[in-house]
This record gives sequence, C-alpha cells and structure tokens, in this order.
Amino acid sequence: MTGEREDDLDDEERRTEIEQAGPGTRAVWGGELELSWQGATQVPVVNSVTFGFDDVDTWLDVGAGRTPGHIYSRNTNPTVQVFEDKVRALEGAPAATSFATGMAAISNTLFGLLKPGDRVVSLRDTYGGTSRLFLEFLPRFGIDVELCETEDVEALETAIRDGCDLVYLESPTNPTMKIVDLPRLARAGHEAGAVVVVDNTFATPINQRPLELGADLVLHSATKFLGGHSDAMGGAVCGREDLVREIFRFREINGASLAPAVAYLLIRGIKTLELRVLRQNENALGLARFLRDHRAVDRVFYPGLEDDKGHVVAARQMSGFGGLLSFSLTGDFGDVKRVLERLRYAHRAASLGSVGTLIGPPAVTSHVELTPEDRARLGIPETLIRCSVGIENLGDILADFHQALET
Ligand SMILES: Cc1ncc(COP(=O)(O)O)c(C=O)c1O
Repeated sequence: MTGEREDDLDDEERRTEIEQAGPGTRAVWGGELELSWQGATQVPVVNSVTFGFDDVDTWLDVGAGRTPGHIYSRNTNPTVQVFEDKVRALEGAPAATSFATGMAAISNTLFGLLKPGDRVVSLRDTYGGTSRLFLEFLPRFGIDVELCETEDVEALETAIRDGCDLVYLESPTNPTMKIVDLPRLARAGHEAGAVVVVDNTFATPINQRPLELGADLVLHSATKFLGGHSDAMGGAVCGREDLVREIFRFREINGASLAPAVAYLLIRGIKTLELRVLRQNENALGLARFLRDHRAVDRVFYPGLEDDKGHVVAARQMSGFGGLLSFSLTGDFGDVKRVLERLRYAHRAASLGSVGTLIGPPAVTSHVELTPEDRARLGIPETLIRCSVGIENLGDILADFHQALET
C-alpha cells in the first residue's frame, strides 16, 4: 500500500472496506492507511516527543482539535494511533484509546468515568489487579463496589437492579474459566442506566466481540494475546465515542501513555493475531481433552469441553473457546511441583497469551496472597494448574504433558 493507488476508492471508503473485512484482514490492515513514509511498507516508529508547525494557525487548529494532527506524544502519537485503530477495527468499535499497560486501561476506565457516590457491580473472579481496585482503591474515593458470585447471573441482575452506574465483566475468568452471560448482563446494565464494560483479554476479538453482545466498552491487556510474544506491555479501551473521549481526557493528564516503540511491537504482534488464536483454540481444546482422560488429573476447566458448566453460554457468545485452560491434579502440591518441573516446552511463568506455552499454579502466581481457605472459597483447588497454550504443534505439547504426568 505505497504511493498513489490506482483503485477508485478514496481513503474513507478504503477504511470502511477494511473495517468490514474478515478479522485476519483487519488485523493486518487496520489503521495502516494513516502512516506511510517514503514508501515504507511497515508503520514507522515515530519517537518524536513533540510535533512542530510552520504556521501558528494550523498549530492552534490542531491544539483545539479542529484539525487532525499531533502536538505532544503523551496525548497522541502517529505510531500509537495505528495501534489504537487496529484494535478499534478488530473490536468493531467507533473509538479507541491506548495505555502503557492493561492495568492502566482498567484504572483509567474506572477513574475516568466514576465519581464519588457511584456504584459498580462486578464479579468475584475478575483479574487480581482489578479486584484490588474494587476492594481497596475505589472505596477510598467514595465509590461503592458490589462483587457477586461470578456464575450467579440472578444475583448479578439483582445487584444491578438495586442501582448501578457501571457493570464490569470478564469472560472467561481467571483461573477457572467461568463463563459470564454477557448479553443478558449487558441488558440488565442498560435497563439500570449503567455503562457496561468487558475485559476481553482472555477471549480476544477473534473469539468474542463484546460490543456486538451489548457492551459499551471493551478493554484489553495488550500485553497478552494482542501483542502475543511476551515482549511488550500495553492496554487499550474501545467502544462508545463519548465514553472513550472521557477516558482519554483522564489518560492525557495522568500520563499512562503507550510508548511508540512498544506500540510498534504490539502492531506487529496483532498482524498474526487471528492465526495464533485459531491455533491456540485448537491446541487448548486438544490438551483439555487429553487432560480430561488422564488418570492423574482430577478436573479440567475449559469452556470448550461439552460437559463444562459454561459451555452452552460460551458456545452462544464465543466463536472459539480460547487458549487458556486449567486443571487440578488428583495428588497434592508436591505433585504439582513435580509435574511442572518435568515439562520441557512450557515456560513456568506468570502471564498468558504468548506464542509459547506458559504454565503456573494460581497458588504461586495470581492467587499467592490468598490463604488456602480463601482459594477454596473461590473454587480454586490447591493442585490447580493454569496453562496458556502456545502455538507449538499439538503432538509435541501432548507428548510433553504425557511424560510430565507419568511421574
Ligand atoms: C484479564 C486481565 N486483565 C488485565 C490484566 C492486566 O494487564 P497488564 O499486566 O498488562 O497490566 C491482566 C494481567 O494478567 C489480565 O489477565
């Protein structure tokens, strides 16, 4: 896409064409029309902190938002904007903005939209950092938070009907892959006049499109599947324009901006998102079936298994079941250690969504600060192992788990 094009579409029509294309095409071409420099076929990394103007009138127009352009990279930057446009195209959103990390996306969304006296309804199983915001930080600012049993959709609906300004959802959840009925709770949220936000990090826009299911905003830790290589951190929020504008206004001031060089890594990662996710869906389903039939495994948590509690709702709202699963062993924590330490391909590490398989026990990673009793209350067995399945060949993954579990 260099130089003068000979097709008969103008840029606006071309943008619309890309936004209506398949997800693989959107992942490659989304946002890419904006930046072309000396015929470069890849997005340039514009490391400039500031942007100059020959005439003051144009400077004023850009500063006042009347003309597109950039002033200062804490606010907007051309490379970062391509990343935002790509995520926006993938989620089918009217607007998007970006952040230095996923947690910055979440905290900016909550603190950018809420005010003292507001009430949030969410799940007990949100990502650990998000529950810390709910339990510790939002209440400090006079924001009331009610966290409901994740799978109790009636309790969630009742809590929302009791008055609610923001409904915050995740599906599937960490670490036991519970499925939350997104359209049903989005409907309840809207009836109560609330803004509905979904963290789509686990599912990715390839498997689940929350805005089409009724959400107002969808957010991501781009550190995970979007980037896909465990080498860059970032976050994104997209959805309703008025809401994204409010969040952006707050991020401009608190400064949790994405760096252009990191945005480039995320852009490069996203180009292969569909290929990776489809492979990860397949690998996770294959591994889940293998583990389900293994005598050393007590239970497998994966919404792609037909007998999983969340399967019916997941099949309704997801087009693939994702690359994450967890399983518990029949033995004790000693067995967890032995199995993990024998695995040859999986990295024993926190995080998820990378090309390589990542594995770890929630008792050591995401839920290390809880007591065994607290973990039991959340339905997390002490021998639970969470696995983010990579894009390796399934036969090799299965052979590796087979030899590790034979101990
Ligand atoms: C579902 C989910 N949301 C948000 C985050 C936070 O992302 P980050 O680590 O990029 O701040 C994580 C991190 O693991 C996550 O799993």
